[in-house]
Amino acid sequence: MRGLDELDVKGRRVLVRADLNVPLDGDVITDDGRIRASLPTIRELAGKGAKVIVCAHLGRPKGQVKPEFSLAPVAQRLSELLGEPVAFAADVVGDSARATVAALEEGQVALLENLRYEPGEESKDDAARAEFAARLAMLADLYVGDGFGAVHRRHASVYDVPKQLPHAVGGLIAAEVDVLRKLTEDPARPYAVVLGGAKVSDKLKVIANLLTKVDRLLIGGGMAYTFLKAQGYEVGKSLLQEEQLDTVRGFLNEAASRGVDLVLPVDILAAVEFAEDAEYEVVDATAIPADREGLDIGPRTRELFAQKLADAQTVFWNGPMGVFEFEAFSGGTRAVAEALVRSDAFTVVGGGDSAAAVRKLGLPEDGFSHISTGGGASLEYLEGKELPGLIALED
Ligand code: 3PG
Ligand code: MG
Repeated sequence: MRGLDELDVKGRRVLVRADLNVPLDGDVITDDGRIRASLPTIRELAGKGAKVIVCAHLGRPKGQVKPEFSLAPVAQRLSELLGEPVAFAADVVGDSARATVAALEEGQVALLENLRYEPGEESKDDAARAEFAARLAMLADLYVGDGFGAVHRRHASVYDVPKQLPHAVGGLIAAEVDVLRKLTEDPARPYAVVLGGAKVSDKLKVIANLLTKVDRLLIGGGMAYTFLKAQGYEVGKSLLQEEQLDTVRGFLNEAASRGVDLVLPVDILAAVEFAEDAEYEVVDATAIPADREGLDIGPRTRELFAQKLADAQTVFWNGPMGVFEFEAFSGGTRAVAEALVRSDAFTVVGGGDSAAAVRKLGLPEDGFSHISTGGGASLEYLEGKELPGLIALED
């Protein structure tokens, strides 16, 4: 892969694919981590006299123009963070985009409207994607791939445009891949992974792969209940994926035969309903009452997990331990995050919800070795999958 420093960008139009897919409440950005992570590459290019054209997606508008998915609030925040104006195009590859790009001077930055307003971006049809990619490529002379959070998507702006323009890898993707490589090639041991989140079905492949790599696998969050049920315990009204029970039993056997320490919750905050102020009690994980649902790991589990992380040398964490958006059920996620902050290990937070949780809980970002901007992307990397957005940047 060619690095940014190998591109001569002065006076050239450089299309940068960034991942600016931030959570919004109306038009208020609730976590701008991904925008901040995109700044160094944009600044570097602008500083070298490029005409910087940033493109990105927001949410899943599925090929339709839907105002609630506009990148306008992101353009404003990007401009505030850069301390420079950002010209915002009202479309992706139409008249507004062309005029906006034509007006750029050296060192200036523009942002195109949501790539996913265009059906070609996510099309499964190679020709349709290539056709849209050609229209994007016409706006620029060079391409820089830097949207790490989207490298697992075979989308036009990620996969097809770099086939049509001279390209380089941006600093963010380079840094993310560096970290993930450390996790997959000879990690310092003990190597512990903490997985949470709602669904075990999202994590099947990564669990299968991690069981061949890690010393300890700690499971919390909604997916833990399918593991508890697979061990023969009742889980009441907790999240459960019946159809995954066989697979999960297979994981339990595999862990046992490989000597992987697979650690499950030993106690649970069992609530009467899914609500911020729901009444709850701490129960043994083996005795969840039939009319209750688990919304967080309990205090003994928090201690157990912290103890399993204390002497680890490498830790990867993805997915909340409970419903951290509700204050009463955020303690498990906080306990794991704090254990990582205390640790001297190489600690990596996989993106998405866990990265947002770290910031929402007010934990110091520099307490972790790395907070990834990619949730799905980092999990697919750890699965050992080939990622379209990385393949496309190879020469
Ligand atoms: C993400 O938020 O994980 C990335 O931006 C990719 O978005 P997607 O899951 O909608 O493709
Ligand atoms: Mg630390």
